[in-house]
Order: sequence, then C-alpha cells, then structure tokens
Amino acid sequence: MKKQIILAFTLLLSGLLLMAAAATDPGLPDDYWQEPSATTATAPHDWSTLEIDLHPEACAQCHAEQFNVWKSSKHAQAYSAGLVGQFPDMGHANANDCLICHAPLKEQLYTDPKVMDASIALRLKHAEGFDSDANMDATSTLPLRHSGVSCAVCHVRGWKRFGPPLKTTASLGQQNTPAHGGFTATKAFEQSQFCASCHQFPAPMAINGKPLENTLTEWKNSSFSDQGVTCQQCHMPDRKHEFRGIHDPEMVKKGLRFSLSQSKNTASLSISSVWIGHAFPTYVTPKVIVEAEARDADQKVLQHWQWEIVREVAYNNGWQEMRDTRLMPGESRQFTATPLPSTTASLHYRVRVIPDHFYKNVYRSLLADPLTPAASAHLRQASQQAEQNDYVLYEQVLEIRTDH
Ligand code: HEC
Ligand code: HEC
Ligand code: HEC
Ligand code: HEC
Ligand code: HEC
Repeated sequence: MKKQIILAFTLLLSGLLLMAAAATDPGLPDDYWQEPSATTATAPHDWSTLEIDLHPEACAQCHAEQFNVWKSSKHAQAYSAGLVGQFPDMGHANANDCLICHAPLKEQLYTDPKVMDASIALRLKHAEGFDSDANMDATSTLPLRHSGVSCAVCHVRGWKRFGPPLKTTASLGQQNTPAHGGFTATKAFEQSQFCASCHQFPAPMAINGKPLENTLTEWKNSSFSDQGVTCQQCHMPDRKHEFRGIHDPEMVKKGLRFSLSQSKNTASLSISSVWIGHAFPTYVTPKVIVEAEARDADQKVLQHWQWEIVREVAYNNGWQEMRDTRLMPGESRQFTATPLPSTTASLHYRVRVIPDHFYKNVYRSLLADPLTPAASAHLRQASQQAEQNDYVLYEQVLEIRTDH
C-alpha cells in the first residue's frame, strides 16, 4: 500500500517535472529592446543569401501572409515624410533618438550625417520603403531603415528569429524548423508588454501624472487586462499583422457604441467606449470633434454645439497638460444639446476624427521657417497626407417631435 502511494507520488512528480520542462518559456533576452541589433559581425556560414537578407521582401518569400498585411500598416510606413522632414534641422545623433521607435535596429540607425542626408534624398524618390509586391530586384538597394518597424525589428536579434509558439504545437524554446536555423518560441509575443518599448513612456516622464505615451498603463488599469484581452488580440486578430488604429474608421467604429435620444427640449448623443483597451484616443496627437446642429424646417441652422475629445498638451519650458477629455475604457458620455430652440425641426449630430491634429500644427510651424529643400519637400508631403487623413466617423439626423 505504502509502496503504491510512493510509486503514484513519484509518477506524479516526474509528470510535473515533464510538464515543467515543456512549459519553460525562455522569454525574450533582457536586452531585446536595448540597442537592438539583428546581426552579429559574421553571418551563419551555412545560410542562403535569402535567409541572411533582413529586408521585408526577403521574409515575404516564405512569410507572404504576414508581409501582405503588414505592408499596409502604419508600422511599415514608420520611416515617414513627417519624421525625416524634421531630421535635417536636428542632426543625425538626435534623429537616431527618434529612430529608436521608428526604425530602431543598429542596422537602421544613421552612422554619420552623410548617411542621413543620402537616406533622406533617396526617400524623396522612393516614398515607400520597400517593394509592396515583394519583388526582390526592385528595391534591394533601399536601406533597411526605409521599411520602418520592419519584420526584423520585432523578430530578429543576432541573426536568431524569435516568435510566438507555433499554432500547431505549444512547444517553447528552440524550434528546429526549416530555414534560418529554426526560431525561439516564447509567449512574450502574446503579451501586451511586448508593445511597451515603443508605446509606453517611463512613469517618471509624467505630465499631470501621465506620460505622453501611456498606453500600456491605461490597458493595465482597464478591465481588458483583467480578462486577459491583450493588445495583440485587438490589433493582431488571429495573429494578422494589421495594427489598425485611429487612422482606420472601421477599427474606431468597432471600439465605440453610439445612441441618440430625445426628451422634451433636449437631445443627446451617448458615446460609449466598449472595445478599446486604453483611452480613446490613447495619444495626445489625434482630436475627435462632436458637433450638434439644430435646424428648422427650412434647414436653417438655429444653433450649434461642439465638444472635443482630446488630451491636449503644450510645450513651453517643459510639457504641460491643458486638458484631458478622453473617454476611458468602459466609459459612456452624453453630448447633450439643450435647450433646443422652439422652431427646431431636426438635430444633426456629427463626429469627426482628426488623427494627426497635433502633427498638422507641427508641420505648419516647421514649414513657416527656412528649411533645406529635402526637409520642406518631405514636410509638404506629410502635411498634405495629414489633411487627407481626416474623416467623419458618425453622422445622424434626429427628427425633433414638436411636442414642446
Ligand atoms: C526560406 C524561407 C524563409 C525565409 C526567407 C524567412 N523565413 Fe521565417 N520561417 C520559415 C519557416 C519554414 C519557419 C518555420 C515555421 C513555419 O513553417 O511557419 C519560419 C519561422 C519563422 C518565425 C516563427 C513563426 C512562429 O510561429 O512563431 C518567425 C518569427 C520568422 N520565421 C520570421 C522571419 C523573418 C522576420 C524573416 C525575414 C527577416 C524570415 N522569417 C525569413 C521560413 C523562412
Ligand atoms: C519598435 C517600436 C514599436 C513596437 C515594438 C510596436 N510599435 Fe506600434 N507603432 C510604432 C510606431 C513608430 C508607430 C507609428 C508609425 C507611423 O505612423 O509613423 C506605430 C503605430 C502603431 C499603430 C497605429 C496607430 C495609428 O495612429 O493608427 C498601432 C495600432 C500600433 N502601433 C500597435 C502596436 C501593437 C499592438 C504592438 C505590439 C504587438 C506594437 N504596436 C509594437 C512603433 C512600435
Ligand atoms: C517612444 C517611441 C517613439 C519615439 C522615441 C518617437 N516616436 Fe514618433 N511616433 C511614435 C508612435 C507610437 C507614433 C504613432 C502614434 C502617434 O501618432 O503619436 C508616432 C508618430 C509620429 C509621427 C506621425 C506619423 C508619421 O510617421 O508621419 C511623426 C511625424 C513622428 N512620430 C515624429 C517623431 C520624431 C521627429 C521623433 C523624435 C523627436 C519621434 N517621432 C520619436 C513613437 C515614437
Ligand atoms: C510590431 C512588431 C511586429 C512586426 C513589425 C512584425 N511582427 Fe510578426 N509577430 C509579432 C507578434 C507580436 C506576433 C505574435 C502575435 C500573437 O501571438 O498574437 C507575431 C507573429 C508572427 C509570426 C507567426 C504567425 C503565426 O500565425 O503563427 C510570423 C511568421 C511573423 N510574425 C512574421 C513576421 C513578418 C514576416 C513580418 C514582416 C512582414 C512581421 N512578422 C512583422 C510582431 C511583429
Ligand atoms: C479591446 C481592444 C483593444 C485593446 C486591448 C487595445 N487596443 Fe489599441 N485600439 C483599439 C481600438 C478600437 C482603437 C481605435 C480607437 C482609438 O484610437 O482609441 C485603438 C487604437 C490604438 C492606437 C492608435 C492611436 C490612438 O491615439 O488611439 C494605438 C497606438 C494602439 N491602439 C495601441 C495599443 C496597445 C499598445 C495596446 C496594448 C497595451 C492596445 N492598443 C490595446 C482597440 C484595442
């Protein structure tokens, strides 16, 4: 009897040990985001040129699915006109401080001012930093930095590939799959923390208690974190590399619920944040404008109301927060038009999104100063693009019952 118990116990123990071995997650190397580098001095001698090539077009030869989605994301456009247009004035060392989020690999940073100038000039000729058909001959001359937050930025360190566990096995650690020496599987890719190095500033950089980028903290304080709904589950559904955000009306609509109501001489639009894992919007750069217009039977505007959803900051001897009217996760807010003029026949509600509100002003003020030709060409491009990004998110007419 005793023997049996001991035997059962030993089996249980070895079972636990086996489980522990299978479940050991190597995590990401501690310095994964500290001066990240995708290569070492020498490339693995037994790899093909395709495996050694870090350009997204090269990855696309075997990972077409990820490439074809990533290529339309903001990550693929992170080496943008609005970014590089600011560089000639800053010098290459300061520009590298911007690249730590926009194109952070050692292989992407500027080594000297000449490299920077050449790269900015080249970008004027090739606005897109890679070939969107993944044609290897077309742009193999473009430096890796032109593809911004490229595949290798998130997945490659010292030639080694890192990724989430394969969908087919839960196996963690070194995977001996074909091509590029296999890869290291870690659940770190499935966790919100993975996005933090670029989407969360450190707490000591707070302005009115909140850093300029505070997305991970906002998420941690939301019910989505308690329910285990990560950044990836919303921004990379089924591991698709979409990264859709405030620039995408459909994505924003998915996050919000609208409902209109009327009582007596009052109308109200309620906006609820139902599927946004952080403040709406999370950054200080977009602005959302809610408008209501009371019109009479002849469509004449009788009265106009306006509210803004924004975290507004200003720089004078340090950053200051002017106001924060953003919608927190789960929050509902009423935008109430009252009192309605007595001849009101209809109330027109409209919600407009200006994704690049803050940058528009930046470009405008930079363009007012003398600039190098390359800088002004890029900033004019960025400014035009930013104007085109505005959209109407919601528009609804409420017929007013004339019972008041
Ligand atoms: C010659 C083909 C080939 C090339 C080129 C290639 N890969 Fe792979 N990669 C594979 C194969 C095969 C696997 C094994 C898993 C699979 O079959 O999806 C793999 C696995 C991976 C994984 C792990 C997938 C997971 O489920 O976690 C990542 C991440 C990855 N590759 C990234 C890259 C990146 C980034 C590049 C370009 C810098 C690249 N690969 C270039 C063939 C390739
Ligand atoms: C290496 C830095 C880096 C990492 C890591 C990173 N991002 Fe980004 N992300 C950026 C930059 C830079 C931009 C802005 C690109 C641009 O428009 O120039 C961006 C843009 C975005 C946008 C679009 C924002 C908009 O304005 O519409 C979303 C959504 C996003 N990231 C989500 C994520 C998620 C989710 C993760 C983690 C899985 C992640 N990012 C990891 C740097 C990063
Ligand atoms: C901590 C990471 C980080 C750093 C450092 C950073 N950015 Fe960004 N940047 C982002 C993210 C994330 C976005 C997208 C969200 C947004 O619009 O704010 C972005 C967006 C932008 C945009 C608007 C989209 C585009 O690419 O046209 C510009 C312009 C820009 N950054 C310029 C800069 C400049 C100039 C610097 C250096 C002074 C810099 N950034 C440093 C993360 C960063
Ligand atoms: C901003 C960081 C980021 C960038 C850029 C990025 N990935 Fe990923 N990738 C991830 C994350 C995070 C996951 C895991 C998502 C999850 O588990 O929900 C992932 C998953 C993968 C997988 C496994 C997919 C699967 O279905 O199992 C492959 C393969 C891959 N990426 C390749 C690429 C390639 C190729 C590119 C460039 C075209 C790229 N990635 C760009 C962050 C990134
Ligand atoms: C429950 C789903 C959900 C989760 C979880 C989530 N997001 Fe979002 N995210 C959205 C939606 C919807 C939008 C579009 C509305 C908006 O801009 O707030 C968005 C917008 C964004 C934007 C666009 C910029 C802006 O100012 O709004 C960025 C960047 C972003 N998310 C990053 C992240 C990161 C990083 C995480 C994890 C820490 C995360 N998101 C978690 C749904 C989610």
